Amino acid sequence: MIIVLTAQADSKSVASALQGLGLWTRALVGAATPVILEVESHSASVSPAVIEAIEGVAEVRQRKSAHPRVDRQAPTFTLTLRHGPALELGDGTTLVAGPCAVESPDQIDETAALVASAGCRLLRGGAFKPRTSPYSFQGEGLQALDWLDAAAEKHGLGVVTEAMSELHVTEVAAVADIVQIGSRNMQNYALLAAVGRTGKVVLLKRARGASVEEWLSAGEHLLVHGAPYVIFCERGIAGANTELRNDLDVGSIALLHHIHGHFVAVDPSHGAGRRDLILPLAQSGAAAGAQMVLVEVHPQPAEARSDGPQALLPEQLRELAKRLGIAPAAVAGNGQPYTSRFPEFYKKSMEQRQQTLASTLGLSAETQRYLQTGGLDMDVADHMTENVISTFALPLSVALNFRVNGRDHVVPMVVEEPSVVAAASNAARMVRATGGFRGDATASVMTAQVQLDGVLGVDGAAETLRQRRDEIIALANQAIPRMVARGGGCVDVDVRVLDRDSGLLVLHLYVDVGDAMGANVVDTVAENVAPAVQRWVGGSVGLRILSNLPLRRLVHIECDVGEEFLGGADLADGIARASRFAEMDPFRASTHNKGILNGIDAVAVALGQDWRAIEAGAHAYAGLGSDYRPLSVWRRTETGLHGSMELPLAIGTVGGSTQAHPGVRAAMELVRIDGARQLAVLMAAAGLASNLAALRALAGEGIQQGHMRLHARKAESAAHVVLTVHKGAA
Ligand code: MEV
Repeated sequence: MIIVLTAQADSKSVASALQGLGLWTRALVGAATPVILEVESHSASVSPAVIEAIEGVAEVRQRKSAHPRVDRQAPTFTLTLRHGPALELGDGTTLVAGPCAVESPDQIDETAALVASAGCRLLRGGAFKPRTSPYSFQGEGLQALDWLDAAAEKHGLGVVTEAMSELHVTEVAAVADIVQIGSRNMQNYALLAAVGRTGKVVLLKRARGASVEEWLSAGEHLLVHGAPYVIFCERGIAGANTELRNDLDVGSIALLHHIHGHFVAVDPSHGAGRRDLILPLAQSGAAAGAQMVLVEVHPQPAEARSDGPQALLPEQLRELAKRLGIAPAAVAGNGQPYTSRFPEFYKKSMEQRQQTLASTLGLSAETQRYLQTGGLDMDVADHMTENVISTFALPLSVALNFRVNGRDHVVPMVVEEPSVVAAASNAARMVRATGGFRGDATASVMTAQVQLDGVLGVDGAAETLRQRRDEIIALANQAIPRMVARGGGCVDVDVRVLDRDSGLLVLHLYVDVGDAMGANVVDTVAENVAPAVQRWVGGSVGLRILSNLPLRRLVHIECDVGEEFLGGADLADGIARASRFAEMDPFRASTHNKGILNGIDAVAVALGQDWRAIEAGAHAYAGLGSDYRPLSVWRRTETGLHGSMELPLAIGTVGGSTQAHPGVRAAMELVRIDGARQLAVLMAAAGLASNLAALRALAGEGIQQGHMRLHARKAESAAHVVLTVHKGAA
């Protein structure tokens, strides 16, 4: 950077002001007036506007960058994957792991399984190996690309693999989600051009002796030739350390990320060359600013055909993932990865379905027994409610293919209507192809109401209650010590004047009920607070009860669906038009919302939730403000559709009498959720999936055809059952 001073400037005081900002300068030789200062390269990074504000500075000139395209790259980006949902990279650390070389189908399959179970989403592995000695193992070549691809597909991982020569760029790019350029090839400009032309994201390793400028310029070559994004990977440079393979240049990682704003990766495996130092080096790289950590791992490092000494052991990979804050993939009861994908499940017999779920998900003996018999014990039923005379059964099904916030869920559904389960599973499969559902839920804050009638001077009374907010909260929490001990409790109050003439005033109490549905908790709070409130403002206490419109307990869900998965642009257009119709017409909106509740209610019943409360809340929310509206909205995007929905969902995973139901316990084991908020998001996803499937059918062939096909199938099997039972009886 060059700083030109004004003719009257005191160059010494300008230089010392600059020094105060961390900018070290020297006057350019021969410059008399005006003085021109050159900023030394190791100075701090300061915006030109700040420098221009210093008295005596006339102009700040930046040197022309040798790599303008690289400079324009954002430090975060979306990586689309061939086998799995797209990844948002840059916020948080991404761990990429795999063997140095792809050695055999079994070796890469086993490694991919352990990489996926550690929580990684990207698998690395070389088909072509650049080795110092021509006598060393050179990689299994093209066939290894096929093995890598198969393993990645099976375990739902993205692929990072190296292109070593222009000869195989096409084949490598066909398998890779990120093409790696190794350090030896950083300045192989012909190869960079060929890889750039594939249009793939590139991970560019720094050459052992390359300066940062040379490295960035190599990145520019890739971008000039068409690469959409370049990740700069530090893997160690030549140094004086004889006990390490290279010297990992953590300073350059910090410089590139924090000063130049680039996406940086670190490869501590090649930096250290020895497994005992990889974890601390990986962490130091991440601490310095690396957003991606690339490590080698091998199921049996002692048998690795290349770079065995630097391959992590499986348990070290898991430890590294933990230290980097990466959650391991969900595992089923038998330690296998938990999945919601069961292709051709519907073609199996009921017994085969039970066995498939039991073996794949490692279901407990209790759940397996329950699935075989179903139903409800008469004694349990007798304790659940009053005047019980028998039990009443409905089918328990599972909707498949659900992926929500990056996690699979088998979704239990209890519903008598044909096609609801199949439709939700189909829609979930379409959504899965573009990453699955994304959603979040607010804290589980329920609303309780205390009604006061005949209050004199209601506005003043309302103000009194507002001023006593802290006392009311304390009083509320005294009533629910166990909930407070669990981290919940009353968090806020609100007062509403409903009718001045009759002095009708309502106090709202907002209570965080954690993982409970919370009806009993908030009713207790309302009843306990009411007497004091009445003493303070007069009038007479009316109702003290929860509201089924819990506006502070909302769930948001959204998804994208590609046209190709929906069945074409016309269907995508049709669904967007159907959404507009519902947005303009309450008659249609109510049917639209029924389609959403088909999914939500079915899960609610299977999981023992109060579905009447859910229905009441959903419809009240849809009618809030103006006209009754659809809860979800579908909009056309360039590639397909975007759907989103928001609604209140008061559901719980602890407490409630229905937990006594063995079917609910079995359903809870199947669905694998970590608490009420996660369950709310999943139920909303089931609702949005059902809605998508209904609109797709309506916008296409019409609802009856699919319905009738399923009815026919069911009728056929019902006739078969009747026949079998009849024959059995005879
Ligand atoms: C039927 O259970 C649900 C639908 O009517 C929903 C809709 O019309 O969007 C198909």
